[in-house]
Amino acid sequence: MSFYDELRDSGLTYSDAVDIISFLVKQPYHEVAANPYYKIPLAIKKKIRAKLADSIPVAYITGRKEFYGREFKVTPDTLIPRPETETLVEAVLADLSKKQSLTTAKPACLIMDLYTGSGCILLTLLKALPEVRGIGVDISAKALAVARENSEHLGVADRCEFIEHDLLNGLPDCELGDMLVITANPPYVSNSDYEKSAASLFHEPALALVAEDEGYIHYKKLLNTIANLAINRLYFYFEIGATQAETIRKYANDLALGTRTLRDLAGRDRVMTGQVVRF
Ligand SMILES: C[S@@+](CC[C@H](N)C(=O)[O-])C[C@H]1O[C@@H](n2cnc3c(N)ncnc32)[C@H](O)[C@@H]1O
Repeated sequence: MSFYDELRDSGLTYSDAVDIISFLVKQPYHEVAANPYYKIPLAIKKKIRAKLADSIPVAYITGRKEFYGREFKVTPDTLIPRPETETLVEAVLADLSKKQSLTTAKPACLIMDLYTGSGCILLTLLKALPEVRGIGVDISAKALAVARENSEHLGVADRCEFIEHDLLNGLPDCELGDMLVITANPPYVSNSDYEKSAASLFHEPALALVAEDEGYIHYKKLLNTIANLAINRLYFYFEIGATQAETIRKYANDLALGTRTLRDLAGRDRVMTGQVVRF
């Protein structure tokens, strides 16, 4: 039996099985997809089997993950980008592409990506929007090193910087300009839900997943910060857990912030967005 068939029989998805083979034989994904039946040395097969038996996610085995059609480096210090996070990217692009102020803003519109991890959200947006600049913020220096590497690999390093900062203390001190877009995919899993998670989740950094206050602490802090920012045009986009929209909307409304909730492709609440425009 080919190693590809073995991987599929063990329950891996088609794309994960092809990705492992492509990583092992150092051939592009699309070439392996056309013919995945490569011969793999026994010693290497054994290593991969052991990692999969230990529930190590495929992205940590290959060291990469596709997000919005681009490849991102990932390590066990970064969350593995999720397809549902592409809903947030879509929402930002759909809104910003309609705004003429995006191209006329001086200084250039700033996208501040909070909890940036691998940088997948920020860097995808910078690739699509050549007129904007970006700042990625995270508490993890190791995650930021990966984000920086991704920014260089994607050719946008000259338009972004990365700041190590604990966002529970508010935003880092930096020049925000006149038009600010805040994107955020904070940790939002409650301690009790985390304990019930699938084994593979325990290989990702708990820091990237678990949040105090039943998963809401970062949203509360962020909304407070946003409500008190003195800025003319601010647009915010948060990824949220599928059952969190009502509670977060209430926090926002209590601070006089209006919001919209957007759903992912599976029909689940996934993004909360709002704006503060003062003239
Ligand atoms: C859910 S991950 C999001 C990563 C990436 N934006 C994505 O969508 O794949 C959350 C990130 O928040 C960071 N983080 C956790 N607590 C933080 C804090 N208090 N201040 C700043 N960053 C924090 C973690 O290191 C992690 O990279």
